[in-house]
Amino acid sequence: MKKIVINGGKCLSGTIKIGGAKNSAVALLPAAILADGIVEIDNVPNISDCDALIDIMKSLNAEIKVINDKVTIDASNIKNKLITEEFSTKLRASYYFMGAMLGRFKYVEICLPGGCNIGSRPIDLHLKGFEALGATVQKEGSKFILRADQLIGTDINLDFASVGATVNIILAAVKAKGVTRILNAAKEVEIVNLIDLLNRMGANIKGAGTSEIIISGVDFLHSASIDIIPDRIEAGTYIIMGALLGENLKVDGIREDHLTELLLKLKEMGVNYVINGNSITLNKVENLLPIHVKTEVYPGFPTDLGQPMAVLLTQAKGKAYFEETIFENRMGHVKYLNMMGASIQGDNKNVVIMGPTKLTGKDIVATDLRSGAALVAAGLLAEGETVISDVEHILRGYERIITKLSDVGANIKIVEI
Ligand code: EPZ
Repeated sequence: MKKIVINGGKCLSGTIKIGGAKNSAVALLPAAILADGIVEIDNVPNISDCDALIDIMKSLNAEIKVINDKVTIDASNIKNKLITEEFSTKLRASYYFMGAMLGRFKYVEICLPGGCNIGSRPIDLHLKGFEALGATVQKEGSKFILRADQLIGTDINLDFASVGATVNIILAAVKAKGVTRILNAAKEVEIVNLIDLLNRMGANIKGAGTSEIIISGVDFLHSASIDIIPDRIEAGTYIIMGALLGENLKVDGIREDHLTELLLKLKEMGVNYVINGNSITLNKVENLLPIHVKTEVYPGFPTDLGQPMAVLLTQAKGKAYFEETIFENRMGHVKYLNMMGASIQGDNKNVVIMGPTKLTGKDIVATDLRSGAALVAAGLLAEGETVISDVEHILRGYERIITKLSDVGANIKIVEI
């Protein structure tokens, strides 16, 4: 079993380069199978979630070439086969093959997705969207069978601005007959990246980044190429680590306009940083101010940065408030931060964080991807040795995290035990 071992207290100096966005890559890779031609996707992050999606496409007989961070997909001879549990449970985003295969074949057999244990994570909004377009949904044990004689464009009003449901409905509707309007659509920048790719492939989609997305179905999607946008959550995670331990720590390759809410909150805490084009340089500050952080759908404070942010709040002088509004079980890091010396009280939605508290290294466990990232941040800060187990969660979403942190002075390694 892999573990991450950190000896904390080291300042972070130098440059961390941000990779492509995981939550873009996991939508753009499946989207490529809608094309009758070759799709080139560049700046794909080197993470196990992308490997898992590539394996699924290979199992469907797509031809894939991976050269460094460029993935080329030729789905011309793709076969319509069952996507088994062995593949589908490796990540949440395997379910994007529901929309993509429905969009291409009007038929798909796929098992339930996996993903972080941060809540019940139902897919009712996805399935309701597919049914609205004319598909029937059958469930046999852990397998879904979706089929449609025709996919007909229609209005779909999402009860919640779900990222996954918005992506999946776009993938199913892009070649449907007529016009589909998604109302209360998610506005995340990763969806804008997806719509950019689909339009380059010949789709006709308007309203990217707004709560109303209009998809005029087309008959044919052709070859295209695109770069994945920088990962705003990876960037935000390292920016928070810079606020904790930075000595001229430069986080390079960011999109400032994708980080607005985080940067506003850091300013509110008294964190000082300098932005120069697509890089940000941070120095740790002694007197952090306690604030109220509430996660919301984009462009609000991202739920995926809530856990790393909680570590920073443990160092603020006074009482800070943190509210998670998107998922019902996203506080897996709290127990372990408290074991390390933090003072965090509350429930799965609201916590009060008293600071500043001195953190001490302990043997802890990553419960999910972003809680794991928070525990890495805590280990970097803590006095002594921190050993983190179940690190596969972390490696799913942070490419080369050990190298990136070691290169800027962290005493961190991964060991096989
Ligand atoms: C995406 O998850 C991201 N994952 C998550 O990132 C991110 O936290 C989340 O969007 C919110 O921004 C990927 O893009 C692969 P949702 P997703 O559908 O699509 C409820 C990470 O750490 N809901 O917007 O699953 C759901 O239960 C991951 O990178 C329904 O009720 O998020 C949740 O409470 C974690 N029915 C809320 O909506 C549905 O059919 C938000 O879910 C779908 C969702």
